[in-house]
Amino acid sequence: MVLRRTESGWAVLAPAKLNLSLEVLGRRDDGYHEVETLNVPIRLYDELFLQTAAAPADSSRRFELRIESSGNADSVPSGEDNLVIRALETLARRAGCPQGAAITLRKRIPAMAGLGGGSSDAAAALSAANAAWGLSWSVDRLSPVAAEIGSDVPFFLHGGAAICRGRGERIEPVALPAGLPCVIVQPPTGMSTPDVYARLDANASPDSGSDSRRLARLLAAIRSGDWRNLASGLYNRLQSAAAEISPEVHRLAAAFGRLPFIAHQLTGSGAAHFGLCRHLRQANDFAATLSALNLGRVFVTTTGS
Ligand code: C5P
Repeated sequence: MVLRRTESGWAVLAPAKLNLSLEVLGRRDDGYHEVETLNVPIRLYDELFLQTAAAPADSSRRFELRIESSGNADSVPSGEDNLVIRALETLARRAGCPQGAAITLRKRIPAMAGLGGGSSDAAAALSAANAAWGLSWSVDRLSPVAAEIGSDVPFFLHGGAAICRGRGERIEPVALPAGLPCVIVQPPTGMSTPDVYARLDANASPDSGSDSRRLARLLAAIRSGDWRNLASGLYNRLQSAAAEISPEVHRLAAAFGRLPFIAHQLTGSGAAHFGLCRHLRQANDFAATLSALNLGRVFVTTTGS
């Protein structure tokens, strides 16, 4: 996440993420699931602009959000349900801040894709407001607010690649080389995260254990460019549950499987599918092939740092 000052306020580049590995360790009493996931940011960004404003007399209009999008803006809520508004309301309450804010969100990350767009936007809003309101809270102090907004928000607040545990909010940063090319396809229909977890529960698979060796092998493979071990280390426990909900999961997996990606899988709870490539030219070639199949929106990008 990159925060910079502009003439009128603050601007943040909010990246998407890919789950290179996602294990579900069990169901918790609070309805969430215990997870262990390796998340990497990618260079596909939303942009958030925040300008402070005096608190309006009508407190329901304290935070004004305008969404600019050429893609699936209809599925991004612009009112109180938007995580950006929830993040700002929660931080303002915690910090006792009276100001309002006008926010413009330029969306490029597709919604309901498993790419973490909404969570990244919320983290971006927390960072921008932290600066704009002169709070100077540390990431550690902002993290519990982030976790209240959503399980993936602390990951984006920390920035960089990380192993995320608990319900996703316990962050262990990991140093990984950036610049691994990837192709992402978002099918026309998005996926609901609670629906995918519910399907996983309905299948009543026994609780799985954390395989720290598999994760260590995957990290080593990424660091050394060992494509074979990278291929065998990529993993997503949610993929088969998601495939039972939408036939598009199989369709995308089959289309990716016909191309010699290093490896490919669903990201998060879907619906987007991604494949890792050896170099950018290969990523562009594969993206052209997948585009011709009309499976959905196709993105070419690289992993970030
Ligand atoms: O935390 P967040 O609001 O993003 O989670 C959305 C939904 O996804 C939760 O209500 C829950 O159904 C599911 N979830 C889960 N376990 C997690 C993360 C999310 O069951 N670790």
